[in-house]
Amino acid sequence: MTAQPCVIAPSILSADFARLGDELRSVEAAGADWIHVDVMDGRFVPNLTLGPVVVEAARRSTSLPLDVHLMIVEPERYVSDFVRAGATTVGVQAEACVHLHRTIAQIKEAGARACVVLNPATPPDALSYVLGDLDQVLVMTVNPGFGGQRFIESMLDKIAVLRRWIDERGLAARLEVDGGVSASTIGRAAAAGADTFVAGTAVFGAKDYAHAIEALREAADLARRDDGREAGG
Ligand code: DX5
Ligand code: ZN
Repeated sequence: MTAQPCVIAPSILSADFARLGDELRSVEAAGADWIHVDVMDGRFVPNLTLGPVVVEAARRSTSLPLDVHLMIVEPERYVSDFVRAGATTVGVQAEACVHLHRTIAQIKEAGARACVVLNPATPPDALSYVLGDLDQVLVMTVNPGFGGQRFIESMLDKIAVLRRWIDERGLAARLEVDGGVSASTIGRAAAAGADTFVAGTAVFGAKDYAHAIEALREAADLARRDDGREAGG
């Protein structure tokens, strides 16, 4: 039933920011499907990263879709800035949105794909009444804030629940995972039903980006094929 080819989205959090343009061109040439951009405000998460200015610079350096992950409080204040800067997808944390339904509509009206992100402790039920409005769901497999953390295995159940809901309702939403994704963990996430994979350290920490992306894609496709989810191209 799931027929979408898998997407590998390197996270620039682990890139060399002094050479961001080169890094983006390198992962694009290495076969990345999307670029994942982690925005942190030092309040929702204990780290600070970047804003629309950097998204706009990234937009000029690659033609790949930009998957912008807002780990910020009151994301509704900045949605249109990030879309104007070139975000293809805007992901907001469910925990940061008082009026989640309204914020999803705002993202779509601004012209981007709408994604809602769930922290590890947030149940899938947070999405029951908005799932049909989403282009993408992101299940965090670490507590957000930093790259290089360990994949939380208990999130596999949540991925499986969301995959079941998406399929049962006949939705086209992508199901993404973020945090601790490597060639050794991606297969389990794919078998549970994820089709879109963020990888920071596993790509930018590797010597050979093409080899790293290929290893991730092969492991994901193998698990999806075994599970009957492979699109075949
Ligand atoms: C974590 C970020 C992730 C991070 C993933 O807060 O949302 O996108 O860059 O990094 P790795 O793949 O190293 O866990
Ligand atoms: Zn992220």
